[in-house]
Amino acid sequence: MFQDNIHTYFREVYMKVGLENYSELYDKGVYLDNAATSFPKPDCVWEAMRAYMQENGATSSRGAYKKAIEADRMVYEARKAIAQLFNCQRPSNVVFSLNITESLNLVLQGILRQGDHVITSSLEHNGVRRCLKTLERDRKIEITTIPCSSEGITDAENVRKAIKKNTKLIVFIHASNVVGTIQPIREIGKIAEEYDIPFLVDTAQTAGVYPIDIVEDHISLLAFTGHKGLLGPTGTGGLVINWQGDIRPLKSGGTGGDSDYPFQPDYLPNKFEAGTPNVAGIVGLGASVQYLLKETVEKIREEEKEIIQYAIEKIREIKGISLYGPQNAGLVTGAVSFNVQGVRPEEVGFWLNEECNIAVRTGLHCAPGIHDVIGTTGMGTVRIGIGYRTTKEEIDYLTEALSLFVKEKLCF
Ligand SMILES: Cc1ncc(COP(=O)(O)O)c(C=O)c1O
Repeated sequence: MFQDNIHTYFREVYMKVGLENYSELYDKGVYLDNAATSFPKPDCVWEAMRAYMQENGATSSRGAYKKAIEADRMVYEARKAIAQLFNCQRPSNVVFSLNITESLNLVLQGILRQGDHVITSSLEHNGVRRCLKTLERDRKIEITTIPCSSEGITDAENVRKAIKKNTKLIVFIHASNVVGTIQPIREIGKIAEEYDIPFLVDTAQTAGVYPIDIVEDHISLLAFTGHKGLLGPTGTGGLVINWQGDIRPLKSGGTGGDSDYPFQPDYLPNKFEAGTPNVAGIVGLGASVQYLLKETVEKIREEEKEIIQYAIEKIREIKGISLYGPQNAGLVTGAVSFNVQGVRPEEVGFWLNEECNIAVRTGLHCAPGIHDVIGTTGMGTVRIGIGYRTTKEEIDYLTEALSLFVKEKLCF
């Protein structure tokens, strides 16, 4: 199969670096898009989902028969595991949603009203950015965007300076999904607490790959998505609530109880969980979070850091490539962005896929603001997303391929 498909470029790569190892990688494919969604998932994830689908199949919170009670228990176990992961004392304060986008919308739309002021970062994903822009247009909220350095790092003290009398929320991405930079969440959280302002954190790029503690990090509202670093299936996410203030529910509907009450019940998690939940997905997420608790996020972070630093150094060595963000793995998570000078990122991504069976992401990555900072507006970047299963050998393969592409394209 591989031998039949072999391309001239490719043959050169293989001749240079040894055919055997890389031919296996070519056949298997190299997945470097973990910042979009993690792959592969631990076996326990799909095993738990299969067992639930095949042997149980009941919905949760809605029945009193044995299987429904068992499904309730599985959902509760997932809540408990997530609460433990983020040091939340009450599993009922973990609310499930479809993904982090829904959780972010829930908080932003549920808190901000006409005339309110909100503080946010320059690095936001559209999950926050579009929601805030829509509220600015429709509810006349006021947005302050805190600048960051050319590498994508924010100074927390600038958040303090931006606080006004009508500041009702501070919302920050934890790590950029373009350049990976980790934001000073704990410092911002302390400032938010000092001024009694709720602090919402988008942990899409950090949950499961970087230690987070809602108490130590002073996070009021932690939004998470299940399918990235948490290693669960798509269609899962949620919100961890560590704040007493009022959030209006995004949806109203059945919760399996209080059925004669005309409005959404006011207690957690039912207040924010209208409609039948994604039980199969939540069961898978519960299994992946149990896996993370056993492995420990600290260990995963240490291992990933080594691969990230390795990738930074290998990519940096290639003449004709511009690498963005800090070149220090201690400051970033697994999203590493670069461009081949003078070449559209889509062309690079297409070539890597076509010729080398390497999956990367190209473009703006749904985060237009950071491109103004790194100078890639209108073009975007090639992004690799390193995950817990990424190996040095895969990075070697990528960088050999990139060197060859650059050589061919730029005649270096
Ligand atoms: C920082 C950040 N926020 C939000 C999202 C949206 O995640 P989801 O599509 O799972 O809602 C992503 C995903 O790309 C992200 O990287």
